[in-house]
Amino acid sequence: MNYALATRTTSLLPPPQSTTPRLAQAAVLYSRVRGQIPKLEWDSFADDAIAIERLKGEHDAIVLAHNYQTPEIFHGVADIVGDSLALAREAEKTSASVIVLAGVHFMAETAKILNPSKTVLIPDVRAGCSLADSITAADVRALKAAHPGVPVVTYVNTSAEVKAETDVCCTSGNAKKVVEAITREWGVDRVIMIPDKYLAANIGAETGIEMITWDGACEVHERFTPADIAEYREAMPGVAVLAHPECPPEVVAAADYSGSTAGIADYISLRRPAKAVLITECSMADNIAALNPRTEFLRPCNLCPHMKRITLGGIRRSLETMTFEVLVDPAVASRARLAVERMLAI
Ligand code: 13P
Ligand code: SF4
Repeated sequence: MNYALATRTTSLLPPPQSTTPRLAQAAVLYSRVRGQIPKLEWDSFADDAIAIERLKGEHDAIVLAHNYQTPEIFHGVADIVGDSLALAREAEKTSASVIVLAGVHFMAETAKILNPSKTVLIPDVRAGCSLADSITAADVRALKAAHPGVPVVTYVNTSAEVKAETDVCCTSGNAKKVVEAITREWGVDRVIMIPDKYLAANIGAETGIEMITWDGACEVHERFTPADIAEYREAMPGVAVLAHPECPPEVVAAADYSGSTAGIADYISLRRPAKAVLITECSMADNIAALNPRTEFLRPCNLCPHMKRITLGGIRRSLETMTFEVLVDPAVASRARLAVERMLAI
């Protein structure tokens, strides 16, 4: 399985008008999650999962889920799973009329920016992000005024208004490539890279390109420390330590590999380490552990409270009531789209 993108194009359930009894429908759906979720636990999710499958058919909807979603969403009802980059790419490509974004608000906004004519829903509007909250469009304008002629590279974990002030967006999966491409194109050796000070420092260290950054951080990844990594190595000798680049540079330096959530998952499925610890949000290890039975996982847990606002019941309600619709001012969206499309082109 390629975690950068896993797609289910057809529903496993019989058509909505089918008279197949609930138990049979539940059994069909359970086949998706067998091995990932114990049967008893799944029983409590089955009604919502059946309803979601039916509602997807009725509304011509798909569920896009980020790698940090809980297993019953990730394995149970998502049509497409992936990192921020894969979700943006798929949002651009889908022919479905309705996109339900099982992730945080900036991801839903990015889907809407790329698909102005489609209905984009987020099951809980409170699913924010400490990075997106750290910076405003006025902050970006001030940075540009202070550093004229320097390109602005903005992490997708930002609002549409911030993206609209941006030359090009990036995700953790393509940040290095984007920074290298834009500095070549502009003939410069520094960039304004916002709002994650740690991602900027990590990419600066990797590329040698000077970074003007912002004081933003991910509240989940900034909690990891080099002492944590030393502790994991002691607890599980020989463990492969895989860190997300939103972690502080000293944590990334102490790890064996750093990459986006898709990069981390691909590392596990391709290199198959005997033991691994993922220095990222905890649902990630839950989602990939069952699919990689030969790897033993140490599972420290830093939860993202925003990602955890999305639940199976919430996705069902979202499709039942067609809420909460994500809207972006068309003038802002068209400027933000340029920055996102420039990233996708790179
Ligand atoms: P990626 O899945 O793009 O690595 O992003 C991680 C993240 O923190 C999203 O909120
Ligand atoms: Fe934002 Fe961090 Fe949560 Fe991702 S994990 S949504 S970057 S707070």
